[in-house]
Amino acid sequence: MDFTTLAKKYKTPLYVYDFDAITQKFETLKNAFKARKSLICYAVKANSNLSVLKHMSQLGAGCDCVSIGEVKRALYAGIPKYKIIFSGVGKQDSEIKEALQKDILMLNLESEEEMQRVASIAQELGVKARISIRVNPNIDAKTHPYISTGLHENKFGVDLQSAKKMYLQAKNSPLLDPVGIHFHIGSQITELKPFADATKVLADLVRNLQSLDINIKFFDVGGGIGIRYKDEDTISTYDYAQAIFDSLSGLDVTLTCEPGRYLVGNSGYFLTSILYEKNNGHKRFVIVDGAMNDLIRPSLYGAYHEVQLLGERDGQTSKADIVGPICESGDFFAKDVELLSTKHDDILLIKSAGAYGFSMSSNYNTRGRAAEVAYSGGKDWLIRERESFEDMIAKERDLL
Ligand code: LLP
Repeated sequence: MDFTTLAKKYKTPLYVYDFDAITQKFETLKNAFKARKSLICYAVKANSNLSVLKHMSQLGAGCDCVSIGEVKRALYAGIPKYKIIFSGVGKQDSEIKEALQKDILMLNLESEEEMQRVASIAQELGVKARISIRVNPNIDAKTHPYISTGLHENKFGVDLQSAKKMYLQAKNSPLLDPVGIHFHIGSQITELKPFADATKVLADLVRNLQSLDINIKFFDVGGGIGIRYKDEDTISTYDYAQAIFDSLSGLDVTLTCEPGRYLVGNSGYFLTSILYEKNNGHKRFVIVDGAMNDLIRPSLYGAYHEVQLLGERDGQTSKADIVGPICESGDFFAKDVELLSTKHDDILLIKSAGAYGFSMSSNYNTRGRAAEVAYSGGKDWLIRERESFEDMIAKERDLL
């Protein structure tokens, strides 16, 4: 891919997604699961661009959604309704209603109270709601605390005892059809054991439920497969699948998973142009036209993203902080990286920006969101226009 040409053609800041790389990731995972029935439901939150979702639908993926907005995006992009899961710890009544009307695969429930609301809304609509329950197995995913979700101290899911109680209630309700079970213990997980342990805990619960004549059809192992940003040891998809299969042996369930980052993270790039360099005598700063409103991961989690200066040149490197124009010291992409000297309009490539990049972007400092481009088979397409000033003020009212 010629990033310099793309940067010149579409201007910066710019996101570029390699759709062929996404295909490859999807196929690798699907292949690892081939010994069982499986459904890969892409976690829309990682990158919800409609063209990305359309690509997922062409690959045969379903979607894991956490708002009715995401459900609508998935449907709009052509994901079949019977492959859409709606998760989330705080669904509104209107969202539950719409999801039931749209007849998606299942609602993934996170509390007893939520289950009661779903039942009463199902009654109002005269339908039977297909549900799954998110079980919190109290397992440490050993990842960043902000993206760890499988411990009792986290707000997600219900404990084993409550889950069992909920399944019994659901079984006895004419309004609920308990078809699935689910866990999601965190994101950017680079060890196999937490996945294996959580699968085992839930598989035992499924066996227990079977003895109570509750037959779970979808066993959802969530998302969370870590990727390499720097030098992390990642889990092989083969080992991941095998560990899950081991615990599921003897169970006739469709293995469902909800990868976000794994599918799109390394397939995306963020391009930003250099505006200025300055050295205050203590430190060298390289100031670029992208900022934390475009890609917030370094500011929010201290996340590492590899940075590469495009174009051939000679010279000595020195340490620099790469920073954006926003009025916050937290507005940086990298700190103390070795970089050659730069000049105005040089392009920086920020890697592994396909997941939680654009989807977490904002208009902070009244900065229009970046354009997005898809790349496949040597061709490129604009898949989202750069936001204009008019776009940003479109919803505001003039009170004067
Ligand atoms: N399923 C559920 C229920 C989730 O909450 C998530 C992510 C996923 C699937 C997908 O997880 P993945 O495969 O992408 O790890 N903004 C953070 C990540 C937040 C993840 C939230 N939940 C970041 O930039 O690292």
